[in-house]
Formats: sequence, structure tokens, C-alpha cells
Amino acid sequence: MTNILEAEHLNITYETGEGEGQRAVIDLCLSLGHGEILTVVGGSGSGKSTFLHSAIGLLSDSAHIVGSLKYEGRDLIGLTEEKWNGLRGVEIALIFQNTGLSLNPNRRIKKQVLEYAEAHGMREATQVVKDMEALMRGVGFVDPQRVLNAYPFQLSGGMLQRVAIAMAMLLRPKLILADEPTSALDVTVQAQVAAQIKRLRDEYGTSIIFVTHNMGVASYMADRIAVMERGRLIELGTRDQIIRHPQAGYTKLLLAAVPELEETEGML
Ligand SMILES: Nc1ncnc2c1ncn2[C@@H]1O[C@H](COP(=O)(O)OP(=O)(O)OP(=O)(O)O)[C@@H](O)[C@H]1O
Ligand SMILES: [Mg+2]
Repeated sequence: MTNILEAEHLNITYETGEGEGQRAVIDLCLSLGHGEILTVVGGSGSGKSTFLHSAIGLLSDSAHIVGSLKYEGRDLIGLTEEKWNGLRGVEIALIFQNTGLSLNPNRRIKKQVLEYAEAHGMREATQVVKDMEALMRGVGFVDPQRVLNAYPFQLSGGMLQRVAIAMAMLLRPKLILADEPTSALDVTVQAQVAAQIKRLRDEYGTSIIFVTHNMGVASYMADRIAVMERGRLIELGTRDQIIRHPQAGYTKLLLAAVPELEETEGML
């Protein structure tokens, strides 16, 4: 398996106006294979989102990035905004907790889907709608047509999130960066959405980095699991290595905090 994303000695620091600033990612060496699902777990503030943002050019201006970060062998650090625009959405997509809120509340979903698709070169409207409906069924909509004809204000937060996730998958990006995409959804819908995202890898070989606080979801999704603590990668291994034989004390703590792990796995 060749790598789609490679971080080598990646350091990201936020300027805070005082001292050295906030070191958010420290000496990170991590790669993601083509068609691999890596889940990233770790406490709040451990640098998970910062790492994902660096891989899609969405770090805030106060962030300084040093080291090496490559996508398909191409350097991502220092890429111009124009080059990023060519990659974002098309090759690399980011789904985050409130992705659904990016939809315009005053325009029908279908219209927004068609515009989004057209802006990225998918002009065959009938096919776009067909693809979108299939993806929507995958994230739990029984009647996608009705939802496509609705306005966002007529849908719940969870429904909007699922629409937006389906939209992100529509362009078949090669790399999906998911930052707690299901955290705001209820448990059964979380499982459905996680399953649909995983199916993309199985059907299209999409590579995925999935950040989650839910060890059950992490374990269900992952080929490998990365554990981060205060900016550092403290443990990395296959799903079974991490779940069955964790080495770091911190990983053991995370696992101990979810006694219902087996139960969640059963549900998924
Ligand atoms: N825009 C910013 N400016 C300054 N510091 C930031 C900024 N974004 C994040 N940080 C800091 O960088 C560190 C890593 O934050 P990050 O958001 O990457 O963590 P996280 O692992 O995603 O946490 P969570 O699980 O809460 O989402 C934290 O100390 C945070 O306060
Ligand atoms: Mg985060």
C-alpha cells in the first residue's frame, strides 16, 4: 500500500503573543495508506483538529507549520490558495461536527447540491440526483426525494449533517478528513453514518482519517488507530493492537473509560 498522506516531523504552533506560543502538534510522523482508514483519538486539545486542518489548508493565520507534509508525494506546506482550491472538496474533503450548518437555509437542498456538483464539473443533473439519493439512503434517509425538495430550515440538525456528509462524498474525494462528524447525531444514526463513510473506502478505495471521541466508533472504523496526547502521537497500531493490547497508560485510560465498547461494537 503506497501512502496518500505523509507527515514527517510536523510541528504546528499557534502564536499567542506570549513566549513561544501554543505547540499544538509536536514532531508528528504519521502516514496514511491509499484506501486506509486511520482513526485518531485523544483528549481535548491534543492537536487532532489542528493536524486535520493542516492537511486541507485551513489552519488559522496565527499557526506556524514546520516539517514536512505531503499529499500524493506533493508538498502541502506553503501551497498557494489557488492550488488549495483545486484540491479542497475535489481531492480532499473535510467533514466536521457542524458541517450541516454550511448549507444556506433559504435555498432548497436539491438546488444547492446541483450547484455544488456543477461548480466541480458534474453537469449531468439526473446522474447527480441519482448519486445523491443513493448516498442519502446510505446515511439513513428513507425518502431522499422529499429531503432534496425541502429547505434546510425544514430539517433537523442531524438531518442537515447527514445531507452535508452525503454532499461531501458526492465528488468522490480521494481523501476524507472527518473531524467528529457524527458527534452531534444520536447513537443509532451515528452508527449508520459511520457505516456509510466506511462503505466509501470499501467501494471506492477512499482514504479516511476519522477523528472521534467514541472508542466504539474508532474501533469499528479503523484499520489503524492513532492516539494523541497534548500534541504528541503517543501510540499507533492496528485496530487490534490498540484495542486488545494497548501499551501507553493514556491509551489504557481511554479504553477503560468506555466499558460499553463491546456493546457498541455489537450495535455497529
Ligand atoms: N486558532 C487557534 N489559536 C490558538 N490556539 C489554538 C487554535 N486552535 C487550537 N489551538 C490550541 O491548539 C491546541 C490543539 O487544539 P486542537 O483544536 O487541535 O485540539 P483537538 O484535539 O482537536 O481538541 P478537541 O477534542 O477539543 O476538538 C490546543 O491547546 C488549542 O487551545
Ligand atoms: Mg478538535
